[in-house]
Amino acid sequence: MEEKTILSLPFVQGFIRLTDDAFRQGWHERNGGNLSYRLTPEEVSQAKPYFTQDGDFCPIGASTPNLAGEYFMVTGSGKYFRNVILEPQNNAAIIEIDQTGENYRIVWGLEQGGRPTSELPSHLMNHSVKKEVTNGAHRVILHSHITNLIALTFVLPLEDEVFTRELWEMATECPVVFPDGVGVVGWMVPGGHDIAVATSELMKKYDVAVWAHHGAFCSGPDFDTTFGLMHTVEKSAEILVKVLSMGGKRQTITTQNFRDLAKDFHVTLPERFLK
Ligand code: 13P
Ligand code: ZN
Repeated sequence: MEEKTILSLPFVQGFIRLTDDAFRQGWHERNGGNLSYRLTPEEVSQAKPYFTQDGDFCPIGASTPNLAGEYFMVTGSGKYFRNVILEPQNNAAIIEIDQTGENYRIVWGLEQGGRPTSELPSHLMNHSVKKEVTNGAHRVILHSHITNLIALTFVLPLEDEVFTRELWEMATECPVVFPDGVGVVGWMVPGGHDIAVATSELMKKYDVAVWAHHGAFCSGPDFDTTFGLMHTVEKSAEILVKVLSMGGKRQTITTQNFRDLAKDFHVTLPERFLK
């Protein structure tokens, strides 16, 4: 009988599958992008026998008191999404948050050294906000360098209303997939506390935050929904890039069309996107 390892646990399999799928989409050149997943208490119990490390706690670079005692699976800084499926133990880690919510330590993974993603402050601040506003439902934060969305940040005004409305117009099901819209952060230095604060502020209202000239963050309850959200946003952005390249819209989905869609699909669309 094959020996059971931590790699056979469903959440680890889901984490690996997402990194591989996202790499194959072309969203993760080199070490671009990062992923984090908040374990359930049952998953922590299942994974604990395989934990191999209990080193010192290090500062997160952000304060996330409501994440005290939580465990996250995260990609490593400088590690490539395409390598996670080959050697998860060297390209990802499971971390534990201390009782203050200000420090973390690695309990499994990154066996050849390294540290969690440089975007850990953004990931954990987003998790903190989402845990609160979704009553614990959201568990996944994905940061991807989605090509067409990045291209649009050089052309469209960097406003929530503009990005939301343009992306909604490019695919009929977008308002159903992300009815709250998308938020936009102007260019900021990545990897730090300030961009984490700005992004988590948007996560109070949206499941998608665009980082101008860099990429996007998506939040969701599970791997499929979060991957699917990033996929939908990027597909819509790709259509818009094509439409703009062909000389722009000649006709589109109208405000009244959106109102009819919202009624039939039982979604509430904020009025500020329906002007
Ligand atoms: P990491 O390799 O540290 O995860 O950084 C990649 C990235 O996309 C930074 O925004
Ligand atoms: Zn990035």
